[in-house]
Amino acid sequence: MLRDIEKVYYSEETLREIVRKLGKQISEDYKDKNLLLVSVLKGSVIFMADLMREITVPCEIDFMCVSSYQSGTTSSGAVKIVKDLDINLEGKDVLIVEDILDSGRTLSYLKSVLLTRNPKSFRICTLLDKPERRVVPDLVADYSGAEVPDEFVVGYGLDYDEKYRNLPYIGILKREVYSD
Ligand code: IMP
Ligand code: MG
Repeated sequence: MLRDIEKVYYSEETLREIVRKLGKQISEDYKDKNLLLVSVLKGSVIFMADLMREITVPCEIDFMCVSSYQSGTTSSGAVKIVKDLDINLEGKDVLIVEDILDSGRTLSYLKSVLLTRNPKSFRICTLLDKPERRVVPDLVADYSGAEVPDEFVVGYGLDYDEKYRNLPYIGILKREVYSD
């Protein structure tokens, strides 16, 4: 696994610092709100687990699973809900927790679906942002941990072909691993 990584982009320590900062900001902003964290599976699972422990205000959590990538590194554009939420969004201050904002198609679709369910508010928190790749220009994250260049990154929940999610850091995947 290690030999497929070109370089470590965000170390465990850096990620801890990034997540701590986001948690602090969210805790301030969601005082006296009805916070519901919605984790987008599977990529955000580690981020979600760490972020929720940095949040000091009451919150609920739920999970949604969408698929936009079959296998490979480019988005197909089609997004499918594989697992929907259990919690009714009415009256909730929904905060989507996503691993990475790339083209923006996944979140743009999710946003339009979830807004029809009348949440009290709707915001997006992404660990990583790849702004160079955006095709939905008006989709911006309300909270963004850090930017990454136009490279394929893995680890800390992010996968390539379902692998590398268990790396504790974010690393750039060697191109030879996925060039097809
Ligand atoms: P979007 O719809 O193009 O914004 O794609 C978002 C999804 O694509 C993310 O939730 C990730 O699952 C996946 N993705 C995009 N870029 C990367 C990457 O560099 N590494 C791993 N997964 C990625
Ligand atoms: Mg993914």
